[in-house]
Amino acid sequence: MSIAESTRLAAQACEKNFPSHLEDLKKLARIPSVSFDGFPPEEVRKGAQAVAELLKKCGCENVELLEFPGAHPYVYGEWMKAGPGAPTALLYAHHDVQPPGREELWKTPPWEPTEKEGPGGLRLYGRGAADDKAGVIVHTAAIASYLETAGKLPINVKLIIEGEEESGSTHLGQCLQKYKDQLKADVMILTDTTNFDCGVPALTVALRGMIAVEVEVRALTKAIHSGMWGGPVPDPVVALSKMLGSLLDDEGRLEVPGVREMVKPVTPDEEARMRKIPFDEKAFREQSGMVPGAKLLREGPNPMAQLWRFPSLTVTAVQASSRKQAGNIINDAAWARVTIRLVGDMSPEKVRELLVTHLRKLVPWGLEVEFKHDGHGAPAWAIEPKGPAYDAAISAMKKGYGVEPLMIGCGGSIPFVDPFAQALGGVPALLIGVEDPYTNAHGENESLLISDLKKACVSQVHLFAELAERLKKN
Ligand code: BES
Ligand code: MN
Repeated sequence: MSIAESTRLAAQACEKNFPSHLEDLKKLARIPSVSFDGFPPEEVRKGAQAVAELLKKCGCENVELLEFPGAHPYVYGEWMKAGPGAPTALLYAHHDVQPPGREELWKTPPWEPTEKEGPGGLRLYGRGAADDKAGVIVHTAAIASYLETAGKLPINVKLIIEGEEESGSTHLGQCLQKYKDQLKADVMILTDTTNFDCGVPALTVALRGMIAVEVEVRALTKAIHSGMWGGPVPDPVVALSKMLGSLLDDEGRLEVPGVREMVKPVTPDEEARMRKIPFDEKAFREQSGMVPGAKLLREGPNPMAQLWRFPSLTVTAVQASSRKQAGNIINDAAWARVTIRLVGDMSPEKVRELLVTHLRKLVPWGLEVEFKHDGHGAPAWAIEPKGPAYDAAISAMKKGYGVEPLMIGCGGSIPFVDPFAQALGGVPALLIGVEDPYTNAHGENESLLISDLKKACVSQVHLFAELAERLKKN
């Protein structure tokens, strides 16, 4: 059977069997596989096992869990019978998820994936429904569609489904060390990014990197009565607030000495390109959920490009006492988690060091300060999308979505991309994914546009065929 014929059959089967692929997604999304410390690791393992079962069901071979001490398991599977001359693709997604956040703000249960109308049409609500369990399904649906019709894939595939992406991929280095030969491939396909809009596909060509540091400021050995002691005794919460407040200037720009200096100036060429990116302020405000009076903190020619071309600093959590127990106390200590998104060639280690050194200098009133971090970080990543693999992706998405894909940068991070692309000898990395600007990944009420999942699965069927033809060896 020709590739064209098997692709036609597979694409047809993919559409016809889509309800069962959606069921597979729901099964995965019912597992609370939160990879953060303090959440049950058994659940992440259950998630890994469910993915392994799914890989076997869709016809993958040599399915196994890749284990490292202290790490949530990766899932590996492959189908390597495409024959001589066929290229090999490394397919990546992750099966772990972020914590659910405030359960009372979920309109549907976070761990019971629920279909409901929303932006763009019918959506599937639930933690992980999009980020990134949908990414797993894009791979498995495409593989199943070929194997149950043509009985073979036009390319060889190796799947690696990570279990600790949302908690910083801290065992990535070890995995790379041990499995880099086993994972050799001609191209990587990562389904963990966002479309430009509902129904409008995107190929992501740039990601920011990230570092995170926990800081705790301590004034006391215990919490004490704020009336009896307040005044002479320093408040660690105000101390920490002053420190955090001075990390951004009045325009919202990073003010950690040495960090912004690492950002290369925008060249006239870049500026011209950035000005061409559509920026719809009204849509941006609505999609992000900014309150009406909130000011856009702009840097550079275009806020869309700002998201991946400039660094940003976010305090993702603070803690001192609690709303519920907001008694009249001077807290003994105050804690915050500070993150910086990186661009260009900013070194994660260097930026973390600059941040810690600076925060240490900012501590007022002789209080004690302690820092904690996992020693890891992700560098930023960017490619020039030129060559047959990128052409294949563009052509495949056009077929699957019926719409020309856009090339976009994204502000998010995927630690896997840069080291693996390098370890595989600089192979092209195709970043495609099924999120959209209404997905609300990491926040409450995460959702996936079901019609776009279907289009993504069909695109993936076409992508295998396009790669087979465009990366043919010999
Ligand atoms: N899917 C995201 C990354 C992403 C989001 C890419 C939006 C492009 C657009 C991924 O699952 C994620 O959230 N990664 C973490 C990585 C971090 C823990 C190092 C992130 O960006 O916060
Ligand atoms: Mn995520």
